[in-house]
Amino acid sequence: MAIREILKYPHPVLRETAEPVTVFDDELKTLVADMAETMYEAPGVGLAANQIGVARQVVVIDITPKEEPKELIVLINPRITKGEGSEIDEEGCLSVVDLCANVTRYAKIWVEAQDATGAPLAFEAEGYYARVIQHEVDHLHGHLFLDWISSLKRSLYKKKRKKQLQAEQKKADAAA
Ligand code: NI
Repeated sequence: MAIREILKYPHPVLRETAEPVTVFDDELKTLVADMAETMYEAPGVGLAANQIGVARQVVVIDITPKEEPKELIVLINPRITKGEGSEIDEEGCLSVVDLCANVTRYAKIWVEAQDATGAPLAFEAEGYYARVIQHEVDHLHGHLFLDWISSLKRSLYKKKRKKQLQAEQKKADAAA
């Protein structure tokens, strides 16, 4: 197992459409284990493979509170087949630094996926769990929560991020 680097906006792989997984082998198990370790270390409640530079349809999620035992959920090739109702709540993302914003999501979703062995999964999710799944599945389609916020907020964020990256570059140049 290894902790992988979490890529940050505007890294282009975050905009890629992830390929479906067809082979459930040891390499996939390693990817899932690395993703879980990376998510727990961050710490975050979910991570999509794109975020570590692997454009494949793999998601890990754990929304259990810190003080409770870990409960890792692995979704391979997840699809949201139906959504119902809507809820607005604040979201953040390990790949979108320094931004939290309200996003409207389905309140309840129906999900089909496979587990790490390839066995089919079908379940319903509500509330916060449903929100996290929608956020992670978005990643697999090259979407960031940034895409669903107001255009004003988005352009302010883009400007701020640009400045941040320029400052980082300056620092790196000075150190070189
Ligand atoms: Ni995210």
